[in-house]
Amino acid sequence: MIHLEHITKIYHPDSVALQDVSLKIEAGEFVSIVGQSGAGKTTLAKIMIAEEPPTHGRVLVGGWDITRIRSHEIPELRRQIGVIFQDYKLLQKKTVYENVTFALEVAGAPQKRIREIVPQVLKIVGLEGKAHRFPVQLSGGEQQRVVIARSLVHRPKILLADEPTGNLDTMNTHDIMELLLKINHFGTTVILVTHNREVVNGLRRRVITLKDGKILSDLAQGKYVL
Ligand SMILES: Nc1ncnc2c1ncn2[C@@H]1O[C@H](COP(=O)(O)OP(=O)(O)O)[C@@H](O)[C@H]1O
Ligand SMILES: [Mg+2]
Repeated sequence: MIHLEHITKIYHPDSVALQDVSLKIEAGEFVSIVGQSGAGKTTLAKIMIAEEPPTHGRVLVGGWDITRIRSHEIPELRRQIGVIFQDYKLLQKKTVYENVTFALEVAGAPQKRIREIVPQVLKIVGLEGKAHRFPVQLSGGEQQRVVIARSLVHRPKILLADEPTGNLDTMNTHDIMELLLKINHFGTTVILVTHNREVVNGLRRRVITLKDGKILSDLAQGKYVL
């Protein structure tokens, strides 16, 4: 599903974020990518969605070489990979319903499809009863659920979440992890990027550990050991 082949990312000659990283993620997997701050996790995530080009190496998504993707092809890639990044904020002046709708509108989806999909994704994240609230009227965990709902509107094959529980307490973190597991259970490949060892240790799924831009370990039911 996603193949990274010998990926190196050099931002500046004195800032090498990734060094010769190769990995394969198969359809249906739930993979965690862990490591300390500065290990290269976010850079790897950005390369997977063609938000950053690698300096060397090749990225294949479903057999599609996105290493030299054209800008007009990026919307097609984003439909295949739902993305949750910490700085992908909700629009404060729009309701929950409108925030999710907006993601479909900018992609040019017809109104009929919007009316069908938005209630579906709000139900998946358990917010169908709060569709008309504004972000300030929601808890942090609920806001993150809206972000997840928004990432699902194109029914992506892959969901990539970079520190989705970064600002949440233990209870909300647990709920978000349950939700990611549920989404994976329905067949979506989930790639979770986090520095939170407790979150990953509880999963008993594949864990890839990055250190100083290199793969330190890749364990089938691994624990995060740093
Ligand atoms: N846009 C950038 N320009 C220059 N250096 C960067 C940039 N983004 C990240 N880096 C550097 O690349 C390294 C890896 O960063 P990052 O991928 O954000 O790691 P992580 O997500 O694991 O904390 C760090 O040394 C960071 O300072
Ligand atoms: Mg990061």
